[in-house]
Amino acid sequence: MSSSTTNSGHGRVTVSTLMEMKANKEKITSLTAYDYSFAQQIDKAGVDLVLVGDSLGMVIQGRETTIPVTVDEMIYHARMVGHGLKRALLLVDMPFMSYATPELALENGGRLMKETGAQMVKLEGGEDQVETVSLLVSRNIPVCAHLGLQPQSVHRLGGYRVQGRESDVAQQMIADAHALEQAGASMLVLECVPVVLAQEITAALEIPVIGIGAGVECDGQVLVLYDMLGITMGRVPQFVKNFMEDGGAVSEALSNYVAEVRGGKFPAVEHTFQ
Ligand code: KIV
Repeated sequence: MSSSTTNSGHGRVTVSTLMEMKANKEKITSLTAYDYSFAQQIDKAGVDLVLVGDSLGMVIQGRETTIPVTVDEMIYHARMVGHGLKRALLLVDMPFMSYATPELALENGGRLMKETGAQMVKLEGGEDQVETVSLLVSRNIPVCAHLGLQPQSVHRLGGYRVQGRESDVAQQMIADAHALEQAGASMLVLECVPVVLAQEITAALEIPVIGIGAGVECDGQVLVLYDMLGITMGRVPQFVKNFMEDGGAVSEALSNYVAEVRGGKFPAVEHTFQ
């Protein structure tokens, strides 16, 4: 294990680093970011993976869902974040409808990589996205898949709810996870999934599984930055912890998050679903 390619190293985090971290059972830390200054702080705190999430539609633009976010808006924010990162891997969301067909996904995924410096793109969906994932990967666009609660499907799902409590839904999620890995996905985000199901999927896959509301057994954790800094107004999901409550400064809150994820202290039972 070379120190330049692990959690504690100073080299740039790559897709291979994340695979190595999973193999070495080192927890992967991840947060969202939308601008240069926060990206710098997050990078300095030692976060491995920075996601420019389409959650920016809600926390930056004040929209009700992520659906209105455009590719141009993702590019604008991802560029700024990219300028702030020295070590963390840059992952950028593909927004709603930007991957409605494999050809569209190739065009928009290519733009996100070329125009922002993204090292990987993320898209939501299961077996229905296998063709798209294979095409992107065949053109050297690493893909992170996203299962469980898929915010771009909020209107079909009828709200932001835990996914996978029923056995048929859980079985489909397991099948989706395998299909996406076989199609070439380099990573999987699991959102709002019961702990036991997330644990089963994490153990079954070779690629890293990053949880948000999916329990401590995932290979890593991600949170929306403004949720964990206590900035989000109104109802905050149960899986969120406000790290500003114990940290007197943003830098301290970020370091505490990194330490708690690496040490397996976050998420605690109260941040998970059964
Ligand atoms: O858009 C986003 O911030 C996300 C995370 C919730 C994983 O997809």
